[in-house]
Order: sequence, then structure tokens, then C-alpha cells
Amino acid sequence: MIWPTSLNKRVKLNEPLKLHTTFKIGGPAKYLFEPKDIDELKLAVNLAKNNKIKIFILGNGSNLLVLDRGVSAIVIKLSGEHFRKIIFKFNSLRTGAGVLLQELIKRSSLRGLSGFEFLSGIPATVGGALMMNAGTPSFSISDLVEQIKVMDYNGKIKILKKQDLKFAYRQSHLSKFIILEAVFKLRKSSVNKIKNTIRECWKRRSQTQELSWASAGCVFKNPRLDSAGRLIDLCGLKGRQSGQAFISDKHANFIINKGKASSQDILKLMGMIKKEVKKKFNIELEPEIITWKN
Ligand code: EPU
Repeated sequence: MIWPTSLNKRVKLNEPLKLHTTFKIGGPAKYLFEPKDIDELKLAVNLAKNNKIKIFILGNGSNLLVLDRGVSAIVIKLSGEHFRKIIFKFNSLRTGAGVLLQELIKRSSLRGLSGFEFLSGIPATVGGALMMNAGTPSFSISDLVEQIKVMDYNGKIKILKKQDLKFAYRQSHLSKFIILEAVFKLRKSSVNKIKNTIRECWKRRSQTQELSWASAGCVFKNPRLDSAGRLIDLCGLKGRQSGQAFISDKHANFIINKGKASSQDILKLMGMIKKEVKKKFNIELEPEIITWKN
């Protein structure tokens, strides 16, 4: 495939995706492209279409398992300046899809705008968080969103208003689009109160979750009215190992990479968890993490 010369310097060939995932796992992407703006993104979308090559959108790689064999596709990372802008207007803000949630939380809190605190500690971009409706069991990012600007895989841009958006627990209906930007509505509050809530969220997270090793956060979705972590724990699976991947001793729904775990190690542990939970509780756990295959 031949890239237009104007895009050449933003394309990396055979880029190891383990450098772009929080699991620190993943083989090479045939092409990794970081568009500067929407026009460049559109060029790449058309190029992929004409060459019948798949596109994967990479956020912060925090909910992602990439196989060791990598992907023969165009991986697009919206890390260019255009996709990292935040513009405030009264109690609302417009943010690019490539902005990290931590940046969004910090900037909003300094303006006394409350709403994003519960997302503290989630290492995602806005686009990734919307795509999978990130959050806790009580709140999700979809509770705050007013509208989303997207591009479809023909390069056409659309605005999706609140009433057009469908979300469920860790689920959106946005996968046929590339998320470009979003508008969120927040509430006025005191800077101190917001900062305290953020501190509490971080504290709770660091007490209950495994944050010192590479991971992709919770591996399985919670089944209705229960917790995957609790069920895996009750199966006695904490500490189980495959190569350098372990089921965390701190939170059983976390798999951690203690060095050079392979994608196969993670898949083996996931398979074992699914099997044991099914056997003991007759519950079919569904992965929360996305596995890239092509
Ligand atoms: N529990 C155990 N053993 C464990 C883990 C948890 O018994 O190994 C018990 C806890 O004691 C608690 C219950 O299970 O009674 C729920 O655990 P926790 O409060 O840690 O929450 P969770 O349901 O496991 C969810 C989200 C997390 C989010 C936290 C914060 C899912 C799949 N997980 O975890 O999201 O950070 O709540 O409230 O929805 C993620 O999506 O990647 C993620 C980590």
C-alpha cells in the first residue's frame, strides 16, 4: 500500500503494539498512523477502504489485548493536537477523542466542574471510554455525554445527539464509527469538594485494585447483580499463573503481566477462569477486554 507523501512522516511501519497497551503485550501493527487532523484521518480511511485493509482505532490501549502475531492493518491513534483539545463553555465542555480522562478530570476540577470524578484512575482516552462506556457499577461516562461527533468508515462526518446515542453497561453502539470529539455537561461545585472525591476514588482503587503491575483493568464484565472478581475469587483462582501472567492476589478480575507474558498466557488464564466460573456457578463470564484479531 502506498501512502501519500504528505502523510509519510506520521506513519510507522511494524510498530510494536506492546509499546501502546497497558498490558505491555502485543505484536507489530503493519502501519501505525497518527493523523494531525480530520482531513488526514479521512485520507487514511479512504486509503484503507480502497486497499481493503482493516482499521483499528487505538486509544490509550488500556482495555486491549493484542495478539503476539500483531495485526496486519492500519492502527490509528488520535494523538495529534487537533484530537487533544478541550474547550470549556459555561458548564459544558467539548473534548477531542484523544484526550486522556485524567487530563479531563484535572482541567474540569480546576474550574469547579463536577461529574468526571468517578473516572479517576481509569487510564483511558475519551474515545476509548465512550466506545466501551467506561465507569463503575454505579456511574458510566454515558451519564454525562450530550453529543458525539463521529466519522464513519466511508469518511463521512456525523453528529450524534443525546437521543441518538444508545449505551448499556460497558457497551455502546459506536463501533461502526470513529469517535472524533464529544460534548459533556457537568455541574458547578467547589474545587475542594471535587478534589476530595477524586482523592477518595483513587484511594479506593489503590486499596482494591492491582495498580503496580501492567494489566488491562477488569478482564471480565460483571454479571448482573454480581461481581466477576468475587466469583473468580470464590473459585480459588487468585495467584494462578501462565508464563509471566498471573491472576492478581488483590483483585481476582485483574490479570497482571509480571514481565514478558505472551498474549497466549492471558488467553489461557481467561479460558481457565471462564471454565471454572461456569462449573461452580453456572455463569457465563463475558470478556470486558477487547482482543484485536484480523
Ligand atoms: N471481590 C472479591 N474478591 C476479589 C475482588 C472483588 O471478593 O478478588 C468483591 C469485593 O469485596 C466487593 C465486590 O467483589 O464486595 C465488588 O468488587 P469491587 O468493589 O472491587 O468492584 P468490581 O465490581 O470488581 C467494578 C468495575 C471496575 C471499577 C470498580 C470501581 C467492572 C467489571 N468492574 O469492579 O472497573 O473500577 O467497580 O467501583 O465493572 C474496569 O472496568 O476495568 C474496572 C476495573
